[in-house]
Order: sequence, then structure tokens, then C-alpha cells
Amino acid sequence: MDNALKKSRTSARAPASLRALQEATRKAMQGGGAEKAQAQKARGKFTARERIHYLLDEGSFQETDLLVTTRATDFGLQDKDIPGDGVITGFGTINGREVCVYAQDFTVLGGSLGLAHAMKIAKIMDLAYDNKVPVIGLLDSGGARIQEGVDSLDGYAEIFYRNTKCSGVVPQISLILGPCAGGAVYSPALTDFVFMVEGISHMFVTGPDVVKAATGEEVSFDHLGGSDAHAGKSGVCHFVAKSEPDCFRQVRELLSYLPQSRFEKPPRVANPDPVRRQTPLLEKMCDLDARKAYRMHHVVWQVADEHKFFEVHAGYAKNMIVGFMRMGGEVVGVVANNPAHLAGALDINASDKAARFIRFLNAFNIPIVTLVDVPGYWPGVHQEHGGIIRHGAKILHAYCEATVPKISVILRKAYGGAYIAMSSKHMRGDFNFAAPCAEIAVMGPQGATEILFSRELAACKTDEERAQLRARLSRDYADKFASPYQTASTGSIDEVIEPSQMRVKIIRALRFLKDKRIPGTHENRGNIPL
Ligand code: HXC
Repeated sequence: MDNALKKSRTSARAPASLRALQEATRKAMQGGGAEKAQAQKARGKFTARERIHYLLDEGSFQETDLLVTTRATDFGLQDKDIPGDGVITGFGTINGREVCVYAQDFTVLGGSLGLAHAMKIAKIMDLAYDNKVPVIGLLDSGGARIQEGVDSLDGYAEIFYRNTKCSGVVPQISLILGPCAGGAVYSPALTDFVFMVEGISHMFVTGPDVVKAATGEEVSFDHLGGSDAHAGKSGVCHFVAKSEPDCFRQVRELLSYLPQSRFEKPPRVANPDPVRRQTPLLEKMCDLDARKAYRMHHVVWQVADEHKFFEVHAGYAKNMIVGFMRMGGEVVGVVANNPAHLAGALDINASDKAARFIRFLNAFNIPIVTLVDVPGYWPGVHQEHGGIIRHGAKILHAYCEATVPKISVILRKAYGGAYIAMSSKHMRGDFNFAAPCAEIAVMGPQGATEILFSRELAACKTDEERAQLRARLSRDYADKFASPYQTASTGSIDEVIEPSQMRVKIIRALRFLKDKRIPGTHENRGNIPL
């Protein structure tokens, strides 16, 4: 039970003013009452107070604005009890570090957002901004409080404004733990990371009824705006949890990788994994058929401290993987092509996913380790007309502007524009390594041969002769270009490394770069949703 609730038990001998406070506190803390709390639980949901209790370090929560309530009186609001105006705000600690938090209380008018509710959230966000601590929102709300009219819309605007002001300054995390509808979805969308819980979280701009009226489509809440839809298709959601406790555990883990604000580095931890640990298993990379798919996760697990990788956005654009790991005890962000999906090619969604993550890392002083195995951009009318040029450009922009340490390793393919995009030397990569089996070229040997020797191939008298010529020319091309050595000879690759040395080399480079600072580039870097 919450400390404040324990304290609020009225003692008959207390002075009257104290008793009045205790009574006001008790009433405010009841939320929508036992019946509504029961209904909340019947849906498999915790109450707002329970959520804060389970998320934060035990006993650390300090509530603010408990006694705030609405001044609106229309549509019967004057006769209603609206404890805390439907939102609990305050601060506490997670893993011993301060955070600001708000939790919408669905038991009070469906957690709907009126002006007072919004200004409580705004106040706690200001506190987070001024004191440089992360802000975490627990959302469970029917949206704009209809009875308050445009006041509630203005309230949302106050929150959006602060989301934008805090962007790139303090980490912002949103947990969707119930409905999140209408314009309300845009506050989480402006934050850095969105969590959803299977079965209870729903986000949409217009719900199933409006969709049916407008387009005739019949769709369920889950299909339209459940965790699968947003984690796998829209990309709005970064993390899916099986349950609320699982969600809180993931949030606590995520925070362990983040600094409190852009003015700090991420926390260092004692590292039991030897920095000189070799990675001989990665030698298998060089035996692999160049067309064979593999999951890049295996490489990440090999190089990471204690083989631990905290993946972000795991269900979305699986051809690109992003997430956090530690190397030699220091937090780094991983950006890597994943040949197990679409051959690891860059497409629209992968570009957006990587670019936003890179910008987050750069805003919060987290070095970037890029693992490259990319055959190029994914071809097709859908991609071209969908704007692969515009979306692909975001990765270029994100890497070029990033001034945190940037280390890349080319494991196998790095072709064409995609070679450039993946943190290449001339995009100001600090250390660029390649495995001996890396193929770095303008395009793959077969494609290059078809273009360079089209006349010679056409002149062949038989198919067999053409196939033999094609194979020979491809081999010649591959010997010259599809290796790391031409690139190493120009300095665009700093070192061709043995795969068994990959972890050692990256950690050594990170150590060297630990105080990297480029004057004039440490201004505020907003993390605009891409
Ligand atoms: C006032 C609201 C409310 C709202 C719910 N309630 N939404 N009160 N304003 N927006 C109240 C209900 O009247 C009810 O009160 C209690 O909350 C619980 O709601 P129920 O409908 O009984 O719960 P449930 O069946 O679980 O349905 C939840 C729901 C539904 C799906 C969220 O309530 C719903 O569709 N609400 C409206 C959603 C919506 O259209 N919001 C406006 C979006 S526009 P009692 O007293 O009966 O318990 C918007 C614009 C924002 O948000 C723009 C920002 C830029």
C-alpha cells in the first residue's frame, strides 16, 4: 500500500486541520472508488496507483498535485467527484535514479483529459525538464474530456509543446495501458519510446465505429490499434509486453541504458566480461555462402558484454536491427542490417527505424556501433513511389550529423549507396573495420558483369559459352572489388580484422573515442519522430 495512504488514516486525536488534510487525502486517493477499480481489474488491468507502485522503487513515490481538480462545471461536472482530476503525478526513483511520472486513472471519468488534468501533466514535465530527469507517462484514457470542450484540446497542446521541448533533452517514455484515442495518440508519438501490453493497449486516431462510418471497413479494436498492429505494421510501438509487470520490468531495463538527460553519459556498470574476450565463432562468417541468410543477432550476442542485447523495435522492419548493449561496461547503440529478413536490404521502414534511433543515440551521448551486411536498397515500384529516396536520405542525414563515436564493421556485403549509408568513412565514421570476407563495391559481381560486358556476353554463340564467360568475368570482378582490400588501400577501411578480434577491436576503439567532442555540435538535438 502507498505510504501516503497509510499516513492518511484519520486519527481521532489529531488536530482538526490535520484531520481535514487526512480526509481530503483519503478522498483524493480513492480515485473512482472500489466498484470502478474492480471493473478495471476485471479487464486484467492494474489501477493507476498500483502501476506507479510496481514501476518505481518501493516507497520512492512522492505525489504532486493530489488535490487538484477541475474548475469546469458544464454538463454536470459540478456534481461529480473527480479526484486528482483523473491523473496521478509525481516523482520517484527507478534503480535508484530519479524519474518524473504521471498515470492516467481510468476509474475517474475514463481517465479523460480536462484542462486541470493536462496542467498537472505539464507541471510534472516542467519539473523533469528543469531538473534533467526522464519523464514516464502511463496512459489509460478516453481522450479529450468532452464536457470541457476546447479547454481539453488546449490541454493536449500544452502537453505536445512540452513533449517537443523535452525532446532530445530528457528521455521520454510512454506506456499505453488502455485506450489512447484521437489526438491523444500524439503525445506518445512525440516521445522516444512507446510500450504496449498485449490485449489491453489500443491506439488509434479514429476508432472502429468512425472507421466503419467513413470507409465501410469493419475492424476490431485489436486489429485496428492493438499491440501487434503498432509493433509490427505502423512502427508506432517500440516494445510489446505480455503483461503489465512485464512492461514495467522492460521499462526499468531500458532506463538502465539511458542517461538522465543530454547533459550526461549513460551509466557505466562493472563489467565481468573480459574486454579481451575473443569471438572465434564469428570466423564462421567467412565460410558462409554469400547468398545464405543468417540472423545478425548472433553477431551482436557474440560481441556484447555477457552476450546481452536489449533490442528496440524488434517487431518492425526486421531487416534492420537496433538496440542497446554494453561493451567493456559502456553503453552503446547497435544499428545493424539483418540478412535474415529481405536479405538485410535497406527499405523505407528500415530507413526510418534506423534514422530515428541514430538520432536518439546522438542526442543522448551514446556511441554507435554499426554492423554491416547489406546488398543495397530494396528495389520495386512500391518502394520508389513510397519515397525510398526521401526515407533513405534520413539515414544519411542521421549518420552525417551524429557526432558521438561511430564505429562500423563490414561483415560481408556492403554494396553501392547502402555501403555509403551504413556509417562509412566519408560519412565521418571514426573507425571503420571490415572482415576479410567483406565484399565492398559499387554493385554485386553478377550485376556489374552484365553491365560492363553486355556486348561480349551477347556475342557468345551458345548459352554454355555465355555462362562460362559470365562466371569468369564475375570472378575477375569479385577478385578485384568484392573484397575489403581495395577499400583498405584507400583508407576508407581503417583495418581488415580477424572476426575473432571483433569485440576486442571495437572496445579498444570505444576507449580511444571516449572523450570525443566536436566543438560547436553539442547544441540541443530534438528527436523528431521520423
Ligand atoms: C468524458 C469519458 C470520455 C471522454 C470515457 N468517458 N471517455 N468522459 N470524456 N472522452 C467516461 C464514460 O462516460 C464513462 O463514465 C467512463 O469514462 C468509462 O467509459 P466507458 O465508455 O464506460 O468505458 P469503456 O466501455 O471501457 O470504453 C472506453 C472507451 C469509450 C473506448 C475509451 O469510453 C470511448 O469510446 N470514449 C470516447 C473516446 C473518444 O472518442 N474520445 C474523444 C477523442 S477525440 P461513467 O461515469 O459512465 O463511468 C480527442 C481529441 C483530442 O481525444 C485531440 C487532441 C489534440
